[in-house]
This record gives sequence, structure tokens and C-alpha cells, in this order.
Amino acid sequence: MVADRADSEKRVAAGAAADRVESGMVVGLGTGTTVAYLLEALSARGLDIACVSSSPRTEDAARRLGLRTQSFAGISTLDIAIDGADQVAPDFWVIKGGGMAHTREKIVAAAARRFIVIVDSSKMLERLTGPVPLELLDFGLASTLARLPDVRVRGVAPSPDGGVIADYFGPIDDPAALSALLSQDPGVVEHGLFPPSMVSEVVVGRGDSAEWVERR
Ligand code: 5RP
Repeated sequence: MVADRADSEKRVAAGAAADRVESGMVVGLGTGTTVAYLLEALSARGLDIACVSSSPRTEDAARRLGLRTQSFAGISTLDIAIDGADQVAPDFWVIKGGGMAHTREKIVAAAARRFIVIVDSSKMLERLTGPVPLELLDFGLASTLARLPDVRVRGVAPSPDGGVIADYFGPIDDPAALSALLSQDPGVVEHGLFPPSMVSEVVVGRGDSAEWVERR
């Protein structure tokens, strides 16, 4: 997809999700270029909201736009969380973490009563193809890599929590089975497969319109 069109669809999806936010809410913010449009849309609405960020990048950007940010410490539940994604399947299995923030993003999503995924139309696929981002513990890294099939370290800066970012390039025939396999390894801090049970809604920017997708 042409970058300009993808950007414009990201903006449309982000704007539609921002419209669901109300004053008084505690809002979880994801990370990435789609979320950057969300921050702009939230800022433009001038709501009285408190925001919990999934990354230092988002925290900085939100503050610059005048959004009130607060620490996640002591907060058990978020009213809503909104985030982008790399791939979305029709059954709402989602891959996240292209922007290396999936561990914190998953914790934010899990704490939210409602988790809205916002994407441009190129992210909607008939089936997930990967790669699946991983955050690995640096301790014992060589042994973790020896146990995990088809995983390569990405060679980028560590996560804000010191984790090593890597990607799984193997098949994703059964996302639930792969999710369980990755989760059971002690060297995996978190993986980027988000289950349908976590995803309340998906908003897709398609041309100039925002489409609220039904789970199939
Ligand atoms: C960051 C993510 C992002 O939401 C995902 O990579 C999509 O990014 P973008 O909105 O820039 O296309 O999971 O860890």
C-alpha cells in the first residue's frame, strides 16, 4: 500500500476510536505511528482524561500534546485502551510489537475494560503470517534461542525493561498453540500474539471511512 494512503487510513481509524473516549476516563495508550494520530485526535478533543502510556515514546508525545499522563503504579483498571497492530486476523488474533513495545502494550490492554485496535486496511489479513515479535530475557539468552525454533534477535536497543527484542519467523498455523508454546518458555518475557479474548473491537481505516469490524 502507498505510504500516504496507509497514513491517511491510520488517521481515520485513530479519529474514530478517539471519539469513543469520554471525559473522566483513564485511557491506556499504545505505541506507534497509528497511536501518534490517536494522540493528536485526543488532544484536539480537549477532554478531561488521564492517560497511561505503554512506552516512553508515547509518554513524551502525549505530554507534548498537552494530554495528562500518569504512572501505571496503583491503577488496577483502565476504562479503555487503544493501540495499533501489525496484523489482524478475522477471528481477532492480533500480532503486535513491530514497534518493540508489545510487553507493556499487552499489560495495558489486559488492564482495560475495553481494548480497541486501530489499523489501516493493509493490516487486515485472512490469516496471520508473522513475524511474531518477542521480548526475551537477556539472562541465558543463548539457551533460550537454542530452545525456540525459527527465532532471530532483531539487533535493536533493549526494551525499556531491559529485554532483548527478537522475532519468530516460523509458521502460525494455530495462533493459540503458538502462543502457549512461546509463553511456556521461561526465557520469553512476552510475545506479540494478542488473543481474541483481549480485543474488544477493531477499527479499520478504509479510504476515507472508519469501519468497525465484526469478529468472524
Ligand atoms: C508497537 C506496536 C504497534 O502498534 C504496531 O507495530 C503498529 O505500528 P504502527 O502503528 O506504527 O503501524 O505493536 O509495539
